[in-house]
Amino acid sequence: MSAIKVSTAAAGACLMASFSGAWAQSAPSINSGGIVNAASYTSPVAPGSIVAVYGDFLLGAPAGASSVPLPTSLGGLSLAFGPYGIEAPLFYASNGQVNLQLPWGLTGPVTLTATINGQVSALQTVNLAQVAPGIFTVNSQGTGAGAILDSNYNLIGATNPAGAGATDILIYCTGLGPVSNTPANGAAASATQLSTVATMPTVTIGGVNAPVLWAGLAPGTVGEYQVNAMVPANAPIGDAVQLIVYENGVPSNTVTINVQPPTPDQQADYMISQMTPSQELQLVYGAGGPVTNDFALPQGGAGYVPGIASLGIPSLYLADGSVGVGNGVGEATALPSSIASAATWDLNLAYQYGTVIGAELRDYGMNANLGGNINLTGREPRDGRTFETKGEDPILAGQIAAQHISGVQSQHVIGCIKHFALNDQETGRTTANAEITSRGMIESDLLAFEIGIAESNVQSVMCAYNLVNGVYNCENAQLLSGILKGDWQFPGFVMSDWWATHSTVNAALNGLDQEQPDNQYFSTLGQAIAAGEVPQSRLDNMVHRILRAMYAVGLFEYPESLQPVNTSADEAIAQSVEEQGAVLLKNANNLLPLNASTVKSIAIIGSNANVAVLSGGGSAQVTPTGGPASVPAGTVYPATPGWADVVWDPSSPMTAIQAMAPNASVQFDPGTSNTTAAALAAQSQVAVVFVSQWTSEGMDLPGLNLTDLTDSLGTDQDSLVAAVAAANPNTIVVAENGGPFVMPWLSSVGAVLEAWFPGQKGGPAIANLLFGAVNPSGKLPLTFPASVDQLPRPSIPQPPDSVTPFPVNYNIEGFNVGYKWYDSQGLTPLFPFGFGLSYTTFSFSNPSVVNNFSSSNPNFQVTFTLTNTGAAAGAEVAQVYLGLPAAAGEAPKRLVGWEKVTLNPGASQQITIEVDANDVSEPFGVWNDTLGAWVITPGTYTVYLGNSSSATSLITAGTLQLSPQ
Ligand code: BGC
Repeated sequence: MSAIKVSTAAAGACLMASFSGAWAQSAPSINSGGIVNAASYTSPVAPGSIVAVYGDFLLGAPAGASSVPLPTSLGGLSLAFGPYGIEAPLFYASNGQVNLQLPWGLTGPVTLTATINGQVSALQTVNLAQVAPGIFTVNSQGTGAGAILDSNYNLIGATNPAGAGATDILIYCTGLGPVSNTPANGAAASATQLSTVATMPTVTIGGVNAPVLWAGLAPGTVGEYQVNAMVPANAPIGDAVQLIVYENGVPSNTVTINVQPPTPDQQADYMISQMTPSQELQLVYGAGGPVTNDFALPQGGAGYVPGIASLGIPSLYLADGSVGVGNGVGEATALPSSIASAATWDLNLAYQYGTVIGAELRDYGMNANLGGNINLTGREPRDGRTFETKGEDPILAGQIAAQHISGVQSQHVIGCIKHFALNDQETGRTTANAEITSRGMIESDLLAFEIGIAESNVQSVMCAYNLVNGVYNCENAQLLSGILKGDWQFPGFVMSDWWATHSTVNAALNGLDQEQPDNQYFSTLGQAIAAGEVPQSRLDNMVHRILRAMYAVGLFEYPESLQPVNTSADEAIAQSVEEQGAVLLKNANNLLPLNASTVKSIAIIGSNANVAVLSGGGSAQVTPTGGPASVPAGTVYPATPGWADVVWDPSSPMTAIQAMAPNASVQFDPGTSNTTAAALAAQSQVAVVFVSQWTSEGMDLPGLNLTDLTDSLGTDQDSLVAAVAAANPNTIVVAENGGPFVMPWLSSVGAVLEAWFPGQKGGPAIANLLFGAVNPSGKLPLTFPASVDQLPRPSIPQPPDSVTPFPVNYNIEGFNVGYKWYDSQGLTPLFPFGFGLSYTTFSFSNPSVVNNFSSSNPNFQVTFTLTNTGAAAGAEVAQVYLGLPAAAGEAPKRLVGWEKVTLNPGASQQITIEVDANDVSEPFGVWNDTLGAWVITPGTYTVYLGNSSSATSLITAGTLQLSPQ
């Protein structure tokens, strides 16, 4: 802060006056009344302050003081106060204006004379006051905006408004009267022995009293006062809010500042300014878990960070929730698995999915959700957590995850995106070392995170257990401080997965902000700071990120309050997601939909379909409303992680099917004997076989066949389906599982519906789909391989032991995850990404592509007509894929846009999908490792349009020619 603002306007006026006869004068002169406060340009003036004196000083070139203590003569000019004869310390002198410090200790009346070349001016009387506050301004007239800074010394203004209730401001002024530790005239105020004002001023902002924290001489300056005040929470909001300093009741000039509601960053900074180091440390680790703090979590859930009641900082109550409230917090709506939500390709519905999770967590008093699993398990479709994820495509996964998170955060629950990064297999997850190039990860797994973060304002990122290129994720500088917080500017906090922290100093320095669920490593963070191994500024930054997340999501404004769960509203969303997300994979001879009025007998076989539907296990496990269904004992799955239960949601497909066809005979066979099941099928008009495959966090499937996991009764589900289909060609297979599987019996069954883990309204949703009350419209968010031999890694890499890192080579497929792998290898999968049948048919016609690449928003638009060519109303997901020039070295095509459209039979709609080059999804981009940037390859781009990623279901809508940039 420069102490002096020179009045150029006033100086200019005096210069003009001097041309009329300056050199004729023999003595300098001081204008009558020509001494004013140099901050506000008003009089009177007060001792100790900076003033401007106008006159005609017979000075050639202007001169300025170059150091302190200030000189008492500049260019031969000096000014003295009578009757004491004190020479004034001078800052600046020109022919028309002199800026000086009014000496301390003057009491009125005083006189002023100017002397140059031995010539003395006439006496001028100085209008002196004990105090005469004047605030420095950014212009020379003493009006308008004040030169007010925030506590980081940034000017308050339109781009940096003060936050009401959250910004400390520094007001620079003159004329506040006597101070303690009075410096000598012309000497700078000390920074160690502060010169504090004798009487504290008051400050009003928009007429509201602002708490004054300190007032005195600004250290290092001469005659310049500084007032530290807080902008009160009830200050008026506006671009020009008036600010006045009063000293002994005497008002300063009025200046204006920009006051806005506080940003989360301002609130966090303000809170940190109130905190002690130990209070800061309290927020950077969990207080739960068995390692160091073994005590029960107050609200259940997965984690707990105690708040600081004296500062009003709420506790963090963390609970899982990828598919509903997890961790056994309480009974909650079991939603269909996240993969089903992705299969809807419906962003609005995905948002509602998130609101259910957020609202129910809040009802249980939880305020941080550990959902947001966006790992691209398409790399490893046998991954036991595939059901929690959003599929294999970074854009679809990123956008669906973003909507889930936005929905969660709309309920004032901190959202999370996890597990950062490349936690793409569960086998050996704590020691798996993902080997991959920067381009490989940035165009795939990391792109999904980047989109999910950019489009959701998510406030927490969970770093994963595994290593990436030899470095554990939770201390990985490239990923955390480099890409996440650097390139992407992620403003929230990074928390570790549960016990995924491996160090104190490395983790803190490289980007971990909060250890969970306890403080095995961060308990020594305070010592590391004291030893200079971690700077205090890093702890401040960690706490800033955590607090800004709490402010951004509204944890301070919306304290926890326990409420009953609104089950019926939430169940309606659960059912809708299942109805929109189930994927019809086969429907030979229009076996489906079943006709309720003509179907006479239905055999329901297997998977406890008389009482329940299956759910996925692990930390995402939901305890469904009403509690788990009771199913026959003895259903035991090999390789089940000990801590994960097998939970059946109490929703009976059989009951719902019977309700749809009240006149039909609907009978159940448990499917434990192929013979009895086939016998029931043979005597029924239609057989519906429910197959199921339980999967969970902490395990991967050994293969892709349903029979790889069998129950204790020895049910071989593949042979069961084959036996039933042999007995009755009208066999419909409904799959309740988490991801892709192979279907050796596919050619012998009539229909296949992929229902995923369908949630607690799975029964009615499945019945509605089978009978056509709802027309299927789900599309696969991941490829169904024809066999494990098609996978980049036909066998899952295995750890040598529980502690030694072992390689998982993701450079095999690199960025070509999922359909991009199949396309680039020329493999035909069982079912392609984006595929799903309907009870009606659609045609795409009149496609055209408009190239707007030279516009300010470079993009292309593909326009086409979509027609429902069948007899039923239904929805189609129109998908746009882009083929890059060969020189880009990419897979043959990538998804770049889609739209889900509902049409009545015979109806047509013209649709335009716009693909923006500057979108965060980088639709045209190729990551260049050397440049460290996305680049666009010149050449021909082909725009494909259709209803799956398979070449046979796509038409070429047009091409784009892009020239070198
Ligand atoms: C899982 C996380 C989960 C955490 C807390 C970990 O084992 O990997 O996804 O959020 O536990 O339950």
